[in-house]
Amino acid sequence: MTATIIDGKAFAARVREQVAEHVKRLKTDHGIKPGLAVVLVGEDPASQVYVRSKGKMTVEVGMNSVEHKLDADTSEADLLSLIDQLNNDPEIHGILVQLPLPKHLDEDLVINSVAPEKDVDGFHISNVGLLGTGQKSMVPCTPLGCLMMLRDHHGSLSGMDAVVIGRSNIVGKPMAQLLLGDSCTVTIAHSRTKDLADVVRRADIVVAAVGRPEMVPGDWIKPGATVIDVGINRIERDGKNKLVGDADFDSCAAVAGAITPVPGGVGPMTIACLLANTVTACCRANG
Ligand code: GUN
Repeated sequence: MTATIIDGKAFAARVREQVAEHVKRLKTDHGIKPGLAVVLVGEDPASQVYVRSKGKMTVEVGMNSVEHKLDADTSEADLLSLIDQLNNDPEIHGILVQLPLPKHLDEDLVINSVAPEKDVDGFHISNVGLLGTGQKSMVPCTPLGCLMMLRDHHGSLSGMDAVVIGRSNIVGKPMAQLLLGDSCTVTIAHSRTKDLADVVRRADIVVAAVGRPEMVPGDWIKPGATVIDVGINRIERDGKNKLVGDADFDSCAAVAGAITPVPGGVGPMTIACLLANTVTACCRANG
């Protein structure tokens, strides 16, 4: 079998078009322009790339983009003061504090200082609780993008066996909640899981979110299963710098029914969902 390639790049472009139309309507009908503030502390090169790309796409869909770049040694008090200022700024509807933060900053404290209604990352403890209890919340962007691709490919996910590999607060745990919400039977696997290969072999849906290059081989995949690869890993191969996922693409694609590529799968969907969440936050703020 050769898998259908789920084209996240094309899907994300369609989502951004819909966001742009919504932004246009907000402007013409209500005179409102959604605004997204991104806060970057320090000079992590990968974070700088993400933040630049988020800013560019925010502007492309017609929204205001505000970037706050702070020194790596910024104090917690100064960061919290900036977040407070953004929480109280009526022109800012979404706030994203880029992670990871430098070690001297308390990540939980910072995340929970963002107003829940502006928390477009969906990381605030209120949003985590709302998602876990099936209530209206801000949903983390990467898992939301994965869910949209799965729904688009399968229609209903009801009754499917899903295995999420990885238990991070950013991807693994919210992904499991979303799949449960769509009536999947969900297993969360992680570094201590016994017989991981056997666990993965039972799955109709495999979401790989461990951050280990090409860790999932094709012989772990049930024939016809769908593989959603969240990994973005840089490796050296044949003297070249290459981007690979957490799944071994070629061997998985030979067995799976569908698979997301890296790059061009989950990555573009994450930013598209961030823009969609910002519009949602803006609409909720304006009744
Ligand atoms: N760092 C890596 N992924 C993310 C994300 O989705 N949101 C934020 N704020 N930081 C990240």
